Amino acid sequence: MPLNIVVGTQWGDEGKGRVVDLLARQASIVARFNGGDNAGHTVTVGQQTFKLHLLPSGMIHPHTMGVIGNGVVVNPTKLLDEIEMLKEAGIQVTPERLRLSYAAHIITPGHIALDEAMEKARGEGKIGTTMRGIGPAYTDKVARSGLRMESMLSPEEYAEAFKEHLEEVNWRLVNQYQASPLDPEKAAGLAFDQARRLASYIGDVSQLLHLALKNGEYILAEGAQGALLDLDHGTYPFVTSSSPTAPSALLGLGLGVNCVEQVVGVTKSFQTRVGAGSFPTEISGEPALRLRGTGEKPWDEYGTTTGRPRRVGWLDLVLLRFTARVNGYTELALTKLDVLTGIDPLQICVAYRDRRTNEELQELPLGPGKLMDYAPVYEQLPGWREDITGARRWEDLPPQARSYILRIEELVQVPVSLVSVGPERSQIVEIE
Ligand code: IMP
Repeated sequence: MPLNIVVGTQWGDEGKGRVVDLLARQASIVARFNGGDNAGHTVTVGQQTFKLHLLPSGMIHPHTMGVIGNGVVVNPTKLLDEIEMLKEAGIQVTPERLRLSYAAHIITPGHIALDEAMEKARGEGKIGTTMRGIGPAYTDKVARSGLRMESMLSPEEYAEAFKEHLEEVNWRLVNQYQASPLDPEKAAGLAFDQARRLASYIGDVSQLLHLALKNGEYILAEGAQGALLDLDHGTYPFVTSSSPTAPSALLGLGLGVNCVEQVVGVTKSFQTRVGAGSFPTEISGEPALRLRGTGEKPWDEYGTTTGRPRRVGWLDLVLLRFTARVNGYTELALTKLDVLTGIDPLQICVAYRDRRTNEELQELPLGPGKLMDYAPVYEQLPGWREDITGARRWEDLPPQARSYILRIEELVQVPVSLVSVGPERSQIVEIE
């Protein structure tokens, strides 16, 4: 009964889409379990680059079925746009190929307006959200006042509930945030139409997945964001409002704990972050420009969802060790190793120094919430100059690149099974 969970080990944008694309070849079902269209997964196939935000990125493979689990928050407008985008690229998305959990919550224009108004009100302390309405939609879920996908099964009732929800949001927008109200009548009309179009995709995905596992099928759970953005285990309050860690795959898909075979932690070969919050190994200047790229190439370090330039820095192994603990990785997939080519020496953060006591720490005493209290302790490793984009086997990598990988394995105590050395599907080194 194999369930393979792929998660991000950092602050998102680790290149999970690449790894999922590779693993989805053997999977019959690919499933999203957390977050919403705040995610952005880029997959390059030949000349075509797909940027998916909500649909599981493994759906690029025509043999797979896509599932959106109860842990996801769904913006119906974005979902319908993405279905259309894939259809135009020749990839069919029908109710036979895509199933949506009846229990997934809906993101409305009200949630998006609240996200904007709340960020504005936070002023200097803003989180730097993606403005996709994620926080307000999960807030409604926890407050037990949200709209679930199952309500779309009756478009009239859904449109009515939608209107009432927007009226409540308008009250908050106007009175609490002095923001402009939305037009509930107009939005309810659109909601009615969307419910009619999406109703046939809605069902009990937990049951579907359970049966598939019973039949021995291979299911791939695709995490969005990364462990350091986890609501409980991340750099709170600069986090997202869902749990991108592996245990959440079970909760967010309606599965029990006895089906997990692999947990693949996708790790970029360096560190990036988009949005606010502390980042101990952040760098600027020339090496930062090299890591970030210019933005010309789709895989340069600019947000897939927002287009914002990402903050960049050296790989932080204290944080990677921490996320290994809360995720239980069985293996790591290291992405973008080719980007490090030509940087010499390389640095990795192996410990932290407490700024107040000067004490050197291997582990964070209270998790990653207050990272500004610590300074990184670096170890230098030799870089390499050879072009590694043609490497396909372990032996093809220069000795310095192999040492870099081996040191990560040693410090995290998790084997590295995959290394990506370029944006193309084939540019992967699989390590036995
Ligand atoms: P939200 O998820 O839009 O509420 O944003 C909360 C924080 O998570 C912000 O710092 C975002 O930049 C970050 N974030 C959300 N989704 C992603 C992602 O897919 N990649 C990287 N950062 C993300």
